[in-house]
Amino acid sequence: MLLIFRELLKLGILYTLKYVLSSETKVQNKGFWSIVALFQGLLHMAKSPKKKVVYVAMSADLVHPGHLINIREAAKMGEVILGLLTDKAIASYKRLPYMPYENRKVVMENIVGVSRVVPQKTLDYRPNLRKYKPDYVIHGDDWRVGVQKETRRQVIETLKEWGGKLVETEREIPYRKGVIPTSSTELNQALKEIGTTPQLRLQRLQRLLNARPIIRGIEAHSGLSALIVEHIYVKDGGARKEFDFIWISSLTDSTLKGKPDTELVDLTSRLGTVADVLEVSTKPVIFDGDTGGQLEHFPYTVRSLERIGVSAVIIEDKTGAKKNSLFGTSVKQVLADPKEFADKIRAGKKAQVTPDFMIIARLESMIAGKGVKDALRRAKMYIDAGADGIMVHSKEKSPKEVLKFCRAYKKFKRRVPLIAVPTTYDTITEDELRKAGVNVVIYANHLLRSAYPAMVKTAQMILSHGRADKASREYCMPISEILTLVERKGNGAS
Ligand code: SPV
Ligand code: MG
Repeated sequence: MLLIFRELLKLGILYTLKYVLSSETKVQNKGFWSIVALFQGLLHMAKSPKKKVVYVAMSADLVHPGHLINIREAAKMGEVILGLLTDKAIASYKRLPYMPYENRKVVMENIVGVSRVVPQKTLDYRPNLRKYKPDYVIHGDDWRVGVQKETRRQVIETLKEWGGKLVETEREIPYRKGVIPTSSTELNQALKEIGTTPQLRLQRLQRLLNARPIIRGIEAHSGLSALIVEHIYVKDGGARKEFDFIWISSLTDSTLKGKPDTELVDLTSRLGTVADVLEVSTKPVIFDGDTGGQLEHFPYTVRSLERIGVSAVIIEDKTGAKKNSLFGTSVKQVLADPKEFADKIRAGKKAQVTPDFMIIARLESMIAGKGVKDALRRAKMYIDAGADGIMVHSKEKSPKEVLKFCRAYKKFKRRVPLIAVPTTYDTITEDELRKAGVNVVIYANHLLRSAYPAMVKTAQMILSHGRADKASREYCMPISEILTLVERKGNGAS
């Protein structure tokens, strides 16, 4: 009410001034003309109806014609409020956006037709709809099917509460169909073909950790296995599920070369595997740094990894001739002095150049039979030394001791992301791990382990049959598939 009164007054004064100043002959009748002007102002107010509010929600990571069509249509109907999905909202149902929220906001604030940009914190429109009570919501008609179908229904229902309406635009621009991508899925595919840069890839791990409660990665030991990790996905109730990062395992890297996992394969050779993986993928990479080697050498490892765009290194607090953790106490597992290990972390942190690279400390207490208490004590020391993450490891079949660690870890005042590797306790689900407070899950060796039995069976079958037909049918992919596999569009290769 106060606002309307103020507007009326403003208009009245404006018109008064206009008439008084524009008419020299009417100087004598100022009072009269002021009243006329006031009435004209009132008339003007009555004639121009209140602008309608139009709400458009989008991720706007890769701005394409589809977005602009919606904004253009929305602007014709009224004042456009753009609900920009936050990184968390986007990551809840699809790939993390390329540009962080703040960057996307700057872009959208400068698009013609947008009156203001507000954050939409969930895929669910309802909280923002109830807040801004728009007269219209505009959306492309592509959400009638797929993951957003339910969201669409909710929008229609909610708008009814105040008489608002959903207006849908046609997604494709017919005459340009197939020429310019009009959806972010198509654009994502196009971007994958271009690839990424070391810096963008490196930063992506931290961004993922900020956007999701739990992320998952799987091991790759070659270009071919990295291609699988890069492209494989499943649809889960409409949402797209994929691996968020690639783990460069010392176990599978060594095994592939027919060598034991004892730090025998040197860094130069391991970096060769990383190069193969980087060349055909765009996802962030976590490197298994074994013990990190000698304290004096570790800073060089950090720099080498950081330079090529690896996001993180995990080093384990063991010393001497390293044996794979999954041997447990059946071999000699020597734990490092925690103070010395903390110094190694400090040296690494001092050496890194970017703020985004992560040095993660891996606890081997449970592997060496020293229990949860020892692991917790060490975790505190490593966090104090600057570790950006803690990996808890166990070779028990049951997740009990890991979960016990997690419960105590939740009470830590200073917490960093928690990583788990459920190789032996593999019945636990990602959901259970998330509830326990785990932020990163690594499937550390499964692609190599699954490839090996198929190779063995194929070799055996060829030997026993004296020809290849049966093995070929049972265990091999068709020739036509292998010929085109690495050339398929969007495999990340240049
Ligand atoms: C690896 O994958 O090399 C690891 C994890 O270090 S584990 O094999 O479980 O020790
Ligand atoms: Mg290893």
